[in-house]
Amino acid sequence: FHLDINASETDKGVYPYYMLKEIDEQVIVAHTLSQHYFDDEANIQNIDASIIEAIQSSDRLYIVAAGTSYHAGLVGKRYFEQWTGIPTEVHISSEFAYDQPLLSQKPFFIFLSQSGETADSREVLDNVVKQGYPSLTIANVMNSTLTREADFALPLLAGPEIAVASTKAYTAQIIVEAILAHAVGQSGLDLKNELAKVAVEMQVIIDQKESFKDIAEQALQNRRSAFYIGRGLDAAVAVEAALKLKEISYVQTEGFAAGELKHGTISLIEENTPVLALLTQSKTAGLVRGEIAQVAARGANTIVIASKSLVKTGDAYIIPDVNELLMPLLAVIPAQLIAYYATLDRHLDVDRPRNLAKSVTVQ
Ligand code: G6P
Repeated sequence: FHLDINASETDKGVYPYYMLKEIDEQVIVAHTLSQHYFDDEANIQNIDASIIEAIQSSDRLYIVAAGTSYHAGLVGKRYFEQWTGIPTEVHISSEFAYDQPLLSQKPFFIFLSQSGETADSREVLDNVVKQGYPSLTIANVMNSTLTREADFALPLLAGPEIAVASTKAYTAQIIVEAILAHAVGQSGLDLKNELAKVAVEMQVIIDQKESFKDIAEQALQNRRSAFYIGRGLDAAVAVEAALKLKEISYVQTEGFAAGELKHGTISLIEENTPVLALLTQSKTAGLVRGEIAQVAARGANTIVIASKSLVKTGDAYIIPDVNELLMPLLAVIPAQLIAYYATLDRHLDVDRPRNLAKSVTVQ
């Protein structure tokens, strides 16, 4: 495997910030991954049979990662459990490194990383190798420490990601997790075709990016805190959405499972507190609607981002429908764009937020 890093990949070109370029590139990354991992007949390719066998012979998967990569793991857990039937745990690497949980008889480790160099994740991989457990690294930078030291490696093929706030690496990780889970188990989907639909709808959202400028300004101008809520896969996306917004705009943002509102966070709701709700999962949509109504009744400024099949009058944005399990790939894009525009509106450096590094190589 070889990735050419040419000028066009590392130049901003017409873009004011790398982050916006990288948000746009998610469409091409989806195509690239599809071409790499599926042949013309939609059969899996470029995933060694030994990887699939090693996963099939394990009794539990442990996804280990940091930051945005950890959030991609929260989504991937659903694919592994639903399509392979193998129980899957997702762990923060800095926690796992010093408080290793009780492991199953035949664990299999999956490391997710953009850089392949995150020290917290490397610490866990070291421990895992010493204990003799099998491991796979899914990373954007091949030939990085995490890819070299794991038994197996799969590329994210997202091209260089320069902005500190990760965008295309997150969606690439979710796509590769989906493809791997599909390869190991039975998704019952024509996943190649479903991912092609995702790419088309990603482009639709990106073509409407200006609408998020208005949403960001209307909801977040002069605000110091905000909340993202959702249930199920939307709760997984909500934590990533909150991270995007807080890390670059410095609006203190919490993302969490909507059902938890009533257990504490609702006491923070005041007049005009922004509450952004992600609503793409039909099973829980009614409950989330109830939670939105409860915060609205207490004065919150509710911004509902709903899928087309679940939309109601007054919602701020409609996400096109694709297979519900793949909705995180679309639902995160409005959140990325809202974070981007909220940060521009504050005249901050979108690509280089204070105190943060792209790759954290110390523990
Ligand atoms: C840093 C970056 C994040 C990233 C995290 C994990 O904190 O700023 O964007 O999610 O590290 O990095 P990794 O390269 O392992 O995905």
